[in-house]
Amino acid sequence: MDQIVRLAGAEKVPPCTVVIFGASGDLAMRKLIPALYSLDSCGERMLADETMIVGCARRAIPVDQFRQHARSAVERLANAPLQEGCWDRFASRLDYLSGIDHPEGFARLKARLEQIELSGGLPPNRIFYLAIPPDAILDWVQRLHDSGLIGLPEGRGFSRVVVEKPIGVDLRSARAINAGLHRYLDESQIFRIDHYLGKETVRNFMVLRFGNSIFEQIWNSHHIDHVQITVSEEEGVGARAGYYDHAGALRDMVQNHMFQLLSLIAMEPPVSLAAEDVRQAKLNVLRAIKPLTPEEVHHQVIRAQYAAGHLDGKVVPDYSHEPGVAPDSATETYVALKLFVNNWRWSGVPFYLRTGKALPRRASSVAIHFKHLPAILFAEHHRLPANVLTLRIQPDEGFSLSVTAKQPGLDLSIRPVNMDLHYEREFQARSPEAYEMLLYEVMIGDQTLFVDAETVERSWLFIQSILDVWEREGRQGLLSYAAGSWGPAAAHQMLRQHQCGWYEP
Ligand SMILES: NC(=O)c1ccc[n+]([C@@H]2O[C@H](COP(=O)([O-])OP(=O)(O)OC[C@H]3O[C@@H](n4cnc5c(N)ncnc54)[C@H](OP(=O)(O)O)[C@@H]3O)[C@@H](O)[C@H]2O)c1
Repeated sequence: MDQIVRLAGAEKVPPCTVVIFGASGDLAMRKLIPALYSLDSCGERMLADETMIVGCARRAIPVDQFRQHARSAVERLANAPLQEGCWDRFASRLDYLSGIDHPEGFARLKARLEQIELSGGLPPNRIFYLAIPPDAILDWVQRLHDSGLIGLPEGRGFSRVVVEKPIGVDLRSARAINAGLHRYLDESQIFRIDHYLGKETVRNFMVLRFGNSIFEQIWNSHHIDHVQITVSEEEGVGARAGYYDHAGALRDMVQNHMFQLLSLIAMEPPVSLAAEDVRQAKLNVLRAIKPLTPEEVHHQVIRAQYAAGHLDGKVVPDYSHEPGVAPDSATETYVALKLFVNNWRWSGVPFYLRTGKALPRRASSVAIHFKHLPAILFAEHHRLPANVLTLRIQPDEGFSLSVTAKQPGLDLSIRPVNMDLHYEREFQARSPEAYEMLLYEVMIGDQTLFVDAETVERSWLFIQSILDVWEREGRQGLLSYAAGSWGPAAAHQMLRQHQCGWYEP
């Protein structure tokens, strides 16, 4: 058996109470409750015995019914199988408080938390998860403050607030949300979620780069030709039209998830694995990306909307005919862009980001294209394909390195082959779901996998330079692509200078 180096133990989390606002909603039932169950499941037993989970919402639901909803969510969606003994223990942790918006709602919550802490002999360790609409966040934080629930701890206990995406819809609103949070909370109490950071393969980026001697030496502009980051979605806008038609691909994917992937790929080695060092190293990448001029937006950014097409044998309507979408909508369902990280390491290396809906497959990946060989020896007559390191985030998590090899035979024929690692096959172990990982990190108080205020604003600064141009130009310059295709031809031409196509998952 190979040597396993355990750098940080999966420590048991301190006893705490997790309060979920919006407990009746989609995120709570589809992600949070199943993730908490998996952490508590018989195989893991990560939650402390005294940990309680208090669901809060406005609508009245009897606690038994809340537990019933939670059970069926766990049955359908938890990473760990439902086992009766584990379920009974987990169910006894679940409580539900309705009417939270009533004038005495937060006072009742406070009394309930104090009662839980008193009966368990616990310090006031509290986590408030805001699984509520973004426009309600600041109001709820103020109510938490006014009811004395999030004052900075005085050596006893902790209070942490978890905030979901989206943090704003543009630079101005993102700054306003951060300023609103900072009125009542210290940055150390705020855990901004980007669920991509909880994915096992994303967490592996740093291990791959800094835990292997071969990669870091060549991870720079001397050896890397360009980098491609793809997040493709198979489904169209579906039931999310109400939200999506106001957001679009740039806000929905690029500003958060794709910029997080980019900063992990491009960061300098952090001074240590401490949260502040890792986050600082990532932030420095974003600081080195300049907002685009209107001219650069025209040349470096492509936006498109899907037109009717076929996906998996089904007809997909025009985006503008989808229920809930404005017929004259200028919202992009596809974006491809080129940017540069203007620092010593990456000088002159283009980073290409592409995301879209109604594409042939759901996949997220990063492809590092190394430089071509000089036209000598094997590359004299035919240009050999460059080496590509592809990191697959989903599905089929793992990575592959394409190398050129000799084909067996008396002649000399060479062709690219893949050295491939499939996570599941190699490790034969359950990978924690992203939300399992993130909830665990909130409970142990480690902010490494969360996004700090300046990072949010830096990425919006870049995105805003594109939004400003698009807002002025409306539908002008908006291309279209058939649903079920890999996007508009213009996006493929972007890569012409590199003599390769986009990585096809
Ligand atoms: N669903 C996901 O997969 C997902 C993914 C990423 C981010 N998010 C973010 O997570 C948050 C929740 O999303 P969701 O999909 O769970 O939404 P949802 O299904 O609409 O649920 C939100 C819950 O919040 C409560 N709520 C609604 N309006 C409220 C208000 N004005 N003030 C306080 N509470 C209110 C509702 O319960 P009551 O009416 O009973 O109070 C509802 O159950 C949003 O910020 C969303 O952007 C969700």
